[in-house]
Amino acid sequence: MTVTDPSPPSPVPARILVVGGGGRENALGWALARCPGVEQVLVAPGNGGTTALAGCGQLAIAESDHGALAAACRAHAIDLVVVGPEAPLAAGLADRLRSEGLAVFGPGADGALLEASKRWAKDLMQEAGVPTAGYWAATDRQQALDALERHGRPLVVKADGLAAGKGVTVADSLEQCREAIEEVFAGRFQSAAPGEAAAPSLVLEERLHGPEVSVFALTDGRSMVLLPPAQDHKRIGEGDTGPNTGGMGAYAPARLLDAAGMEQVRQRVLEPILAALRARGIDYRGVIFAGLMLTEEGLRVIEFNCRFGDPECETLMPLLGPELAQVLLACATGRLEQAPPLTIEPRCSACVIAAAAGYPGEVRRGDPIDGDLGDDPDLQLFHAGSRRSEAGPVVTAGGRVLAVVAQADDFDTAFERAYDGLGRVGFEGMVYRRDIGHQVRTRRPALP
Ligand code: AMP
Ligand code: GLY
Repeated sequence: MTVTDPSPPSPVPARILVVGGGGRENALGWALARCPGVEQVLVAPGNGGTTALAGCGQLAIAESDHGALAAACRAHAIDLVVVGPEAPLAAGLADRLRSEGLAVFGPGADGALLEASKRWAKDLMQEAGVPTAGYWAATDRQQALDALERHGRPLVVKADGLAAGKGVTVADSLEQCREAIEEVFAGRFQSAAPGEAAAPSLVLEERLHGPEVSVFALTDGRSMVLLPPAQDHKRIGEGDTGPNTGGMGAYAPARLLDAAGMEQVRQRVLEPILAALRARGIDYRGVIFAGLMLTEEGLRVIEFNCRFGDPECETLMPLLGPELAQVLLACATGRLEQAPPLTIEPRCSACVIAAAAGYPGEVRRGDPIDGDLGDDPDLQLFHAGSRRSEAGPVVTAGGRVLAVVAQADDFDTAFERAYDGLGRVGFEGMVYRRDIGHQVRTRRPALP
């Protein structure tokens, strides 16, 4: 009989700081606070909902204030920092905190280029052999216009750099493409690629067709854990019409990818991209978000992001087990293989977003938010654009205001629960889509 050394136990972080103030961070805080062994979760800056979460506290520190965040980690003896949004990651928050010895779930500025520079990401995908749309990079206006003329068909125009989801134009005509190119070179978006500080540049991409699905891999740079695939609803209007938004609702698991499909995503997309990152000397610890399109020719990567999707995060967190805090710490410390397996409940999760009137344009703010969903283990209310007003009540403070999420054994029941919950909360001018999950619901709502 051989005796093997038991693996060192995987520690639980007692004190966690979540950086960010959206629905995603509200859901992360909620999910981490319910993990056994987690004593406190602080959210900075949080929102009007964070204070109401059991086990969560709030710090009034902006995600851009790296110095104050580092000081707060020292003051509160933080064991794990989870960075939600892309902007602080691209600005090097994880590097700064790691340089002070902290465990951080979220890549450094180098890994965040996966999202922060479209061109860098496309080059890496090509190098790694990851299936993606054909592309042409251009650093000047004429070069871009010439590439478009040579192609002779509308192309997708993507400004390089973080543009808060506004840098992509899926044009139907050559004229629209030219206008989008002019806009980029008029300097509306800035490049985040190293050494190109403010020079506008763009990527022109072949237009692909097919349903989209989001896949998230938690990684320590070598191993990874995949979460169930989720489908977002980007358009503001029912029937997937109207302008793009950050996402009006989501559901998981999306049936677009079965176990074999997920295995393909792992082998053809995630493992090669992680290997290519390592080959560039990048130690990527955090989440890789693959935005995929399922085309007739097979799966293609539309984009990578260096963070959880929102509202996909709100949708997925309730399905994850009590090992989540340990798993995120293990990713942050490069020891994912020693962490316990992450339990993923085989249930259906449905998320509907309530937005403020005017979204995705200018929105009204300051309206009191009413209602409460009570204590139902299968129903969650997460806040996004909300804040606690000086007078006391929580008021609207952004475009997407609330996320109502419900779980059940089937999607019809999950969506009925979510919409029932949404009927019990609200604010003046609340806007939402009634057809979230239309792809998987059999009992459809009556639409006009
Ligand atoms: P991105 O910011 O790269 O996610 O792009 C925003 C949205 O534009 C995506 O979710 C897609 O719906 C669409 N899109 C981006 N690239 C393409 C492409 N090559 N073909 C068709 N649609 C695209
Ligand atoms: N829901 C898509 C995103 O977060 O980019």
